[in-house]
Amino acid sequence: SERTLVLVKPDGVSRGLVGEVISRIERKGLTLAALELRNVERDVAEQHYAEHDGKPFFESLLEFITSGPVVALVVEGPRAIAAFRQLAGGTDPVEKATPGTIRGDFGLEVQFNLVHGSDSVESAEREIKLWFPSL
Ligand code: GTP
Ligand code: MG
Repeated sequence: SERTLVLVKPDGVSRGLVGEVISRIERKGLTLAALELRNVERDVAEQHYAEHDGKPFFESLLEFITSGPVVALVVEGPRAIAAFRQLAGGTDPVEKATPGTIRGDFGLEVQFNLVHGSDSVESAEREIKLWFPSL
């Protein structure tokens, strides 16, 4: 079994889609190992998205992710990393995500794409340590 770090981003929380996201995770057969509603410190946001430092959208991404509370989850199950990326859909909600996915069903703009999911075992380990140091 594998663990992945999932975020319902500020747009997902403010639009009332937390239950929808959790419901899809649970219906897929994945389980919740941790769950917390929290405000994101600038420092945590920078570390979380460190791989994008220097990109043109980095500053606006940090502003967005610190703009309101997020729901952070640790999600567990066989191939949990790929399984949640499948549920989320591609990064661009219109160009890449297909209907039936979270981003494809609820998103319009690339920055406001509702959810985050770790993209590799290494990222998942790093992100779980960052968001849930006690796990
Ligand atoms: P995450 O799960 O959030 O990491 O998304 P991802 O892995 O599908 O995409 P990636 O890591 O490449 O990008 C991280 C986040 O930056 C995306 O989810 C978007 O919110 C944002 N982002 C990516 N590309 C762009 C872009 O071209 N413009 C803007 N404004 N935001 C972007
Ligand atoms: Mg990513």
